[in-house]
Amino acid sequence: MSTETKPAYSPGLAGVVAGETEICWVDPNAGLMYRGYDIHGMAEQASFEEVAYLLLNGELPDFEQLGRFQREIASQRELPAPVVKMLRLLPKGTHPMDMVRTGVSMLAPFDPELNDHSHDANIRKAIRLIARLSTLITDGWRISQGEEPLPEKMDLTHAGNFFYKLRGEIPETWEIRMLDTIFILYADHEFNASTFAARVTASTLADMYAAVTSACGTLKGPLHGGANEESIYMLNDIGQANRAEAWLKDALAQKKKIMGFGHRVYKSGDSRVPIMREIARDLGHRTGKEQWVPICENLEKTMEREKQLCANVDLYAAPVFAMMNLPAALNTPVFAASRVAGWCAHVVEQHDHNRLIRPRSLYTGPELRPYPGSPTNGK
Ligand code: COA
Repeated sequence: MSTETKPAYSPGLAGVVAGETEICWVDPNAGLMYRGYDIHGMAEQASFEEVAYLLLNGELPDFEQLGRFQREIASQRELPAPVVKMLRLLPKGTHPMDMVRTGVSMLAPFDPELNDHSHDANIRKAIRLIARLSTLITDGWRISQGEEPLPEKMDLTHAGNFFYKLRGEIPETWEIRMLDTIFILYADHEFNASTFAARVTASTLADMYAAVTSACGTLKGPLHGGANEESIYMLNDIGQANRAEAWLKDALAQKKKIMGFGHRVYKSGDSRVPIMREIARDLGHRTGKEQWVPICENLEKTMEREKQLCANVDLYAAPVFAMMNLPAALNTPVFAASRVAGWCAHVVEQHDHNRLIRPRSLYTGPELRPYPGSPTNGK
C-alpha cells in the first residue's frame, strides 16, 4: 500500500552523482586531476605537502607559502601523551588500520577547535590531522613491534619523516622522492567510498575528526584501500610469472574477486597504474627483486583476455611497498597517510557548502500487515 511511486534505484550508487566538488576529477577515459592539474606532472616533481596545500586551498603554494605549510605540518606531528598511552594498551595483533581509526577518534577532544567548523579552523585542523595520522601509523607500528617511538625530525619532509620514524634511518633522497610520488597518487579520488563516508558524516555538521574516523573505517575494507594489502598476499601466493595465468584462471573459475583489478569509474584503465608500474620496475632493479612486475603484467594480460578488466593502482602498490620493506599490514595505512589530505579537503568543502546527505532506500520488505492484537488492525 505504497503512497509513493517506485523511485529510480542504482545498486551501489553506481553512476549516481551525489554532489559537486572543485577538488578532484576522475575522468573515466583519461585520468585524474587535482584542482585542474593533471596528476602526472605533479607526481614526478611535486612534494606531498605541495599537493596537500593545493587540495586544501585550491591553488598551488608559492615558495614562502609552501615553506610555512611544511613547517606547520612538521610542528604538529607529535601525539598527545594519552594517545601514545592508548596505543600501548591495544591488544597484540591489532591491525594498524584499527589503531589509526581509534587514534584519530581519540585525537578529537585534544583539538581545541574541534567544534569550530569555520573554513579557517577546518584548515588548521586538517594540518593537525595530516601531521598526526602519520604519527599514529609510525608510533603505533613501533609500539606494536615492542619498540619505542622515535622523536620527530623537524628538518625532514612529511615523506622523509614517515620513513625515518618507521625505520630509524634517514632515507635516501630517491626514497623520499618515491614516497612523495606514491603519496601524491593516493591523495584524492573524488567521491570514493571513504571520502563519501567522510562527507556524509561531515554533512550532519559533525566535526572533521568524526568524518576522518568514518573514512578510516571505510578505507580498511578490501574492496577499497584494503586491496593493497590483499594484493601482496595474492602476489606472494602466485610467486612467479609463469604461474600467474593458471592461478588467475583457477581463481576466476572459483568466482573469486581478484584484488587490484576493476574500478567503479575507470573504463579504460586506472591512470595511476603506469606511474606505479614504473616505480615497481625501478625498485625491482634497485633491490634485485625483479619478479613482481612480470607477475603483475601476466595477470593484467590474462585478466584483459578473460574478463576485460584493468588493473587498479593497488595491484602495483603492493609490490612497491614490499620492496620498500614495508610490512603488508602497513600498506593500507600508507594509503591513509596520504588520503587524509583529500578527506580533509572534502570536509572543508562540505562544511563550506553544506547540505545534509541523506538518500532514500527502496523498501523490499513485507507489505503493511496487522500487528497482532492492535485495535487499528494495520489500517
Ligand atoms: N575480480 C573479478 N571479477 C571482478 C573484479 C575483480 N577484481 N572486479 C569486477 N569484477 C566483475 C564482477 O564479478 C562483475 O561480474 P559479473 O557482472 O559477471 O557479476 C563485474 O566485474 C562488475 O563488478 P562489480 O563488482 O559489480 O563492480 P563494482 O563497480 O561494483 O566494483 C570494485 C568495483 C573495485 C569494488 C571491484 O572491481 C573489486 O571488487 N575489485 C577488487 C578490489 C580492489 O582492487 N579494490 C580497489 C579499488 S581501487
